Amino acid sequence: MELSQQEFELLRQYIYNLCGLAISDNKNYLIRQRLEPLVIKSGCSSFSEFYNELRKGDAGGNKILPQIEEKIINAITTHETSFFRDGHPFQAVKKFLLPQLSKTVIQRKSRSNYRKGAKVRLWSAGVATGQEPYSLAMLIHEFTSGAICLPGVVKEDFGLLATDISSTMISKAMTAEYSRFEIKRGLNAEYLRKFFFKEKKHWTIKNEIRTMVEFRQINLIEPFQMLGGFDVILCRNVLIYFDNLTKIRILEQFTDALCKNGWLILGATENIFNLSYTFRPVHFGETILYQKK
Ligand SMILES: C[S@@+](CC[C@H](N)C(=O)[O-])C[C@H]1O[C@@H](n2cnc3c(N)ncnc32)[C@H](O)[C@@H]1O
Repeated sequence: MELSQQEFELLRQYIYNLCGLAISDNKNYLIRQRLEPLVIKSGCSSFSEFYNELRKGDAGGNKILPQIEEKIINAITTHETSFFRDGHPFQAVKKFLLPQLSKTVIQRKSRSNYRKGAKVRLWSAGVATGQEPYSLAMLIHEFTSGAICLPGVVKEDFGLLATDISSTMISKAMTAEYSRFEIKRGLNAEYLRKFFFKEKKHWTIKNEIRTMVEFRQINLIEPFQMLGGFDVILCRNVLIYFDNLTKIRILEQFTDALCKNGWLILGATENIFNLSYTFRPVHFGETILYQKK
């Protein structure tokens, strides 16, 4: 189906407003390829007709499929992920952050005020099919049941929130079921044996890991202060899809959401150069962790 320059401009602005995705001038094909099936399913004969139907919103009498915004978000966003993606950031979590965070747990447990015993909270923002938060949960489980963990620190002291803009992704992540292809990407044999069980065609994460993660649908371009404070925020391979203005706004919100000395972890190829001055980089091997100043 033909996508004229004018249709491209209108639809990319619509998508930008919906989820912050910044589609560059030369990515006409992205909208054409990813939205064409929706245009056809909606019974529209052109992108213009589809756009006009979208503009009518929920007013009755339009052709648009139910939950069209959700379907557009699913079609246009990229959901690439894997367990322990890039390896080294998870080594940094295991060897550096978890020992630090367990000290925080002990401090909070010894407080006498109303926040006594408050959990250490980690937020994985933009999780796609959930491999990232489940990787963290496996590390926390392993760490808190191991010999180097401080006495009195248990996995229940850690709260793990996982969010994505896409409810379809959240639903898939909550099933905790992964295909042969998915478990072959990043999981070692020991974690597979310890934390998964095999069903007919897929592998399911055991309840002891699954129940450590709470899932919610959150659009990062909207305010998210209602989520409360966090000790660690992971936002990996999500900001790359946004323009600088959106990145700056989200980084400001992350700064507000992080507690004093809290940590931000980005994707292995991402950085906050010229975008935020509220973090100091801390190098741990190949990984750069950003600590709130
Ligand atoms: C490439 S995946 C990254 C998954 C995982 N963090 C990783 O690094 O493997 C990007 C995810 O960001 C989500 N996303 C895109 N725009 C978003 C927004 N405005 N708010 C929240 N999540 C968004 C997409 O739905 C997608 O699941």
